[in-house]
Amino acid sequence: MSYIIGVDCGTSGTKTVLFDESGKVIASKTIEYPMYQPKNGYAEQNPIDWKNAMIDTLKCVITQSGVNNADIKGVGISGQMHGLVMLDKDGEVLRNSIIWCDQRTANEVDEMNAILGREKLIEITANPALTGWTAAKILWVRNNEPQIYEKCAHILLPKDYLRYILTGEFATEVSDASGMQLLDVANRCWSDEVLTKLSIDKSLLGKVYESCEVTGQVTKEMAHLTGLAEGTIVVGGAGDNAAAAIGTGVATDGKAFTTIGTSGVVFAHTSKISIDPKGRVHTCCAAVPGAWHVMGVTQGAGLSLKWFRDNFCNAEKETAKYMGVDEYYLMDKQAETVPVGANRLLYLPYLMGERTPHLDPDARGVFFGLSAMHTKKEMLRAVLEGVSYSLRDCVEVFREMNIDVSDMMACGGGGTSPLWRSMLADLYNCPVKTVASKEGPALGVALLAGVGAGIYSSVPQACEAVVKADKVQTPDAVRVPQYESYYKLYREIYPALKEQFSKLASL
Ligand code: XUL
Repeated sequence: MSYIIGVDCGTSGTKTVLFDESGKVIASKTIEYPMYQPKNGYAEQNPIDWKNAMIDTLKCVITQSGVNNADIKGVGISGQMHGLVMLDKDGEVLRNSIIWCDQRTANEVDEMNAILGREKLIEITANPALTGWTAAKILWVRNNEPQIYEKCAHILLPKDYLRYILTGEFATEVSDASGMQLLDVANRCWSDEVLTKLSIDKSLLGKVYESCEVTGQVTKEMAHLTGLAEGTIVVGGAGDNAAAAIGTGVATDGKAFTTIGTSGVVFAHTSKISIDPKGRVHTCCAAVPGAWHVMGVTQGAGLSLKWFRDNFCNAEKETAKYMGVDEYYLMDKQAETVPVGANRLLYLPYLMGERTPHLDPDARGVFFGLSAMHTKKEMLRAVLEGVSYSLRDCVEVFREMNIDVSDMMACGGGGTSPLWRSMLADLYNCPVKTVASKEGPALGVALLAGVGAGIYSSVPQACEAVVKADKVQTPDAVRVPQYESYYKLYREIYPALKEQFSKLASL
């Protein structure tokens, strides 16, 4: 039997899963780490935390599984997109990584638009200049920390830093590189025009591969630290969303998924490049060679629920520990007792600004309609519903672009909640399916490793062989119109507050 490993460097933690070639989980381990918010709108993590978490989780799954490391045929790495990792000439980390949900770069976005023009940027990179994407962060460091920029010899994305640690190679792959805003997305290579105009030296960037190509081999030192065999192949891997697509079988036209992790994403595969001229959804290279995907992103999805849990749900945490169940399960059970609309309470999940559809780094969270009769459970339900309304906003843009999202899967931590899935089915008014494996991104990149190692003949074939459908949640005829009324009102709240968000940011 052959085995494959997927490492997923997420925002709340790094998860490593060892699968057999049929996609069965043999061993899995997650290690969490903190996110730092030194200022309102800032978000950073320490790449050394990612490195330690990868090494320790790899070691743990290999030891736990008892699998002979010679039978582990390849490793794939997935990770949170857009984060900026800067290394000096000796490969040492120069500063904390400014991660995907950081919103400090409004001035640099203006600078990029002034230098390149909004239309040109969309034409080449398939996306408008975005505060959370890597290019604006590079300019921010150059503008604000020139002493660090001067020492920078390598720019990497989070998972590509882990590749460097494992193999010593400076490389990336097309799906994640699309989120740097330096890639010619149609032609799947670095854009000389964008790099020259922004005065970013191409030699700072890694070599670009397709996601299933072999990018390097595990070094002797890493073999010693992790238990992997020296020389084990490491493939390109993918950004977390492109990886989740493979792990849920979204590798052909007509297929889509919604994931609720820290962020929330609605994602659709497309064999023809398709760009929203208004820039509300992102277009990136897919992890399937020669294909692309379109995705709408809500910044504070699982993040909203985690924020609520950490600040208001200590009792649930204690009870969950005592009962030996997941604290989110107990929170779900409470929210289930509240009717649709949370007794007239709405929540806007803009804790870290918002991308789809507003593209507004200054937007912030709102509870709308609070009454003295509301309790924690109404607020909890409102958070779950508010995130679902924001995901429906993404689907609305897709429908406007004529992108078919009716074959919809759900994944990510939030996708495991039956209540959240039913909200999505009711709000999208289409069935929402799940897949048997809950490992989304980790399975996706493990399959890419399997393609690189020759276990599967292509990425779609790997999906076909391994990914199996599970439950289907159908929309409920009574709830659909009820949610529709609340969603209509939800859509009116942001435009009414837009100006006030901007005033708040300037205080
Ligand atoms: C996608 C995005 C997030 C991150 C974090 O554009 O920013 O989904 O990848 O998971």
